[in-house]
Amino acid sequence: MKRTHHCSELTKTDKDKEVCLVGWIDSIRDHGGVLFVDLRDRNGITQVVLHPTRDYSVELSILKPESVIGIEGKVELRSEDTINTSMKTGEVEVYADEIKVFNIAQTPPFPLEDEKAQKVSEDLRLKYRYLDLRRPSMLEALKIRHKASKIAHNYFDQSGYIEVETPFLFKSSPEGAREFLVPSRMNIGEFYALSQSPQQMKQMLMVAGLEKYYQIARCFRDEDLRADRQPEFTQIDVEASFIDRNDIYSLIEGLLKELWKGILDVELPTPFLRMTYEDAMNRFGSDKPDMRFGFELKDLSEVFANSSFKVFKGAVEQGGVVKAINIKGLADITQGELKNLEDIAKSLGAKGLAFIKIENGEWKSPILKFFSEEEKEAIKAALETEEGDIVFFAATEWDTACNILGRVRLESVPLLEKRGKLKIDPNEFKFLWVVDFPLMLRDDETGKFAAAHHPFTAPLDEDVPLLDTDPKKVRSKAYDCVLNGSEIGGGSIRIHEKDVQQKIFEKVLGIPEDIVQSRFGYMLEAFKYGAPPHGGIAMGFDRLITILTGKEVIRDVIAFPKTQKGQDLMANCPGPVEPKQLKDLRIQLNT
Ligand code: AMO
Ligand code: AMP
Repeated sequence: MKRTHHCSELTKTDKDKEVCLVGWIDSIRDHGGVLFVDLRDRNGITQVVLHPTRDYSVELSILKPESVIGIEGKVELRSEDTINTSMKTGEVEVYADEIKVFNIAQTPPFPLEDEKAQKVSEDLRLKYRYLDLRRPSMLEALKIRHKASKIAHNYFDQSGYIEVETPFLFKSSPEGAREFLVPSRMNIGEFYALSQSPQQMKQMLMVAGLEKYYQIARCFRDEDLRADRQPEFTQIDVEASFIDRNDIYSLIEGLLKELWKGILDVELPTPFLRMTYEDAMNRFGSDKPDMRFGFELKDLSEVFANSSFKVFKGAVEQGGVVKAINIKGLADITQGELKNLEDIAKSLGAKGLAFIKIENGEWKSPILKFFSEEEKEAIKAALETEEGDIVFFAATEWDTACNILGRVRLESVPLLEKRGKLKIDPNEFKFLWVVDFPLMLRDDETGKFAAAHHPFTAPLDEDVPLLDTDPKKVRSKAYDCVLNGSEIGGGSIRIHEKDVQQKIFEKVLGIPEDIVQSRFGYMLEAFKYGAPPHGGIAMGFDRLITILTGKEVIRDVIAFPKTQKGQDLMANCPGPVEPKQLKDLRIQLNT
């Protein structure tokens, strides 16, 4: 049996053709002995008619959904009343003369129709991933991924970029994300780390004189996983010499324009909005603001600097701020919803989440009694309060206050949507560049200051003097590309001078000299031999595809993803290894 057509192809112009189709039985319906089989391959579905009076070499009763068969037969037009206009092949059916059964399938452990499959546990879908991927919507995501990859390859090729493969087995450099370590059998006691990103290699390629590098690169990070993170993921990784930040912005805007045009047929307006990190935090409480809706944070520190409400006054006295956000129309928030918001705020370091509701022309709040008339007027003016609004306050350190209200802003969206007071259009794409990130930020986990982007990021020229006096105030030439509240890419202009790099490692990040030498000595040495000014970016390819396919989770656009616990449920890994393997590596488990 040799296929003549895909199951997506036949239309009424093929009437009377003798064809051969192969694929999976999507469904079988028995109409008084006549079997209607929807035959599915990767491109589509065609209806096949099996007549009990024909003499097939196969007993028809053994056919079950998901079995693999081939049929030969003639294309016929469907009668008027059985035409299915929602299918491309809906005007025809194939009357089978021959059937070949390649494989009979057991009943799948979960139904493969999209709607039903979405309701079963994701773990079950991941265990039988090869079945889950049979669903057209899953297959479609992989096709879009392939297409996006091709568009990106073409785009960089045409822009003069050269793809270079960089090693997965690389040096451990623990100041980034947590790494996966790989023991070396030939160098007992020593380890590689799986590359977190090609960052150091791509910079070496610039020193090598490649000038324009890109790679669709696999990266490995042993991080705690979230909906938009995977332990191995893909970046569109780019580096170029003799360029500035604007060159990178327009290069990436051009790429995104082509992706959106090629996949969604949407013309993206460029250039994208640009916003400093400080503005993004001040106005939206996030370094990746979702710009599809308003609700800006306001600073009321001056208003409350001498307030009789001690909580607010105290925060300002201690160098913090009082910030507020007006969530319009959410005064009817329920106790449960309010409690939930408070809990979230507390998990981010809030001591409380003061609020004022405006209902029936009255201000309602447990702290109303503390506010003077002037303070009330100031709140009203700054937050433009109206009937039905609720204003939330955070009084604490600047970054914490921004974070808390930024989260309240995001958490309010589903609450407002539920009430029909806000509608987020999933087909609206609000891109922006967040720029001038600080060189150093407090790490959420350790609480210590560390390189905000990575230690190779150049400071802003005008902030260089601050390196010696107040390094926490230094801004950098780092930028993030943000879409609808998701960080889809990030990069920076790099340091290309040995002395500046050494100063950042030792003086600013406080990495001892011997460790700098053992970890980064080769980079510092490379910079002695003529390093061009350079910079680059990496786009999160899986995140981009998640957005382009309208999927909710990153796992739906990766063929074989890991669970939140980093497991592959299909192959069942990670798992134990043979004692002999450990012995060869001289590794002993201490569990
Ligand atoms: P960064 O660490 O910001 O930069 O990563 C770039 C982009 O990769 C995506 N990303 C991830 N996607 C899925 N799962 C993950 N665990 C994950 N981690 C990151 C994000 C992010 O914006 N070397 C630098 C880039 C540079 O400076 O050129 C880097 O890796 O979308
Ligand atoms: P208290 O005086 O501690 O009972 O707090 C009064 C109100 O202010 C309560 O609703 C608290 O949730 C809230 N609150 C307390 N501390 C803060 C803070 N730092 N920022 C915002 N609200 C707060």
